[in-house]
Amino acid sequence: MDIQLHDKQFTPFISAEEIDFALTNIAKQIEDDFADETPVFVGVLNGAFMVVSDLLKKYNSPCEVSFIKLASYEGTTSTSNVKQIIGLNQNLEGRTVIVVEDIVDTGSTLEELKNLFKLQNVKHFKIATLFLKPDAYKKDIKLDYVGIRIPDKFIVGYGLDYDGLGRNLSEVYQLKD
Ligand code: IMP
Ligand code: MG
Repeated sequence: MDIQLHDKQFTPFISAEEIDFALTNIAKQIEDDFADETPVFVGVLNGAFMVVSDLLKKYNSPCEVSFIKLASYEGTTSTSNVKQIIGLNQNLEGRTVIVVEDIVDTGSTLEELKNLFKLQNVKHFKIATLFLKPDAYKKDIKLDYVGIRIPDKFIVGYGLDYDGLGRNLSEVYQLKD
């Protein structure tokens, strides 16, 4: 069933089951690569809160979790100036860091993150994202773990919002045109 958030209509796009399946795969891949490393998962707030929670429940080896908060979006278009709002207060030197994103769109947020982590002397810096919009992605930073590739259209739900609304939806909806 379609839903309305603020002034816009959204239609069901990705089910909770598909999300669950994608997260199971990501967790498995990371575990294959880093089970003996005690990685630090760094969730990018606000959007990644559900991804981190569900992903880590599927990750069955020792790990730590932390969060960082950034902003790049106003309304339904990505703005290119990304600002750090809340930084990490943990020493990550020599650690394996896995940044967890809800979605990678233009990649500006990731670029900013990569620059932030460059200064931290981490051992491995990896990126996991539930969603990727390949047609919008403009950077050449390697995305290590990608859940679901989607068209370059605005989505909400499962942590993602439209001007604050929709984050609590357990399925993902796409903007209707
Ligand atoms: P980027 O910096 O352009 O890659 O955008 C990344 C951030 O913008 C994500 O972490 C989201 O918070 C937000 N974003 C990108 N695409 C969407 C979307 O389709 N719906 C809601 N938020 C989005
Ligand atoms: Mg985000």
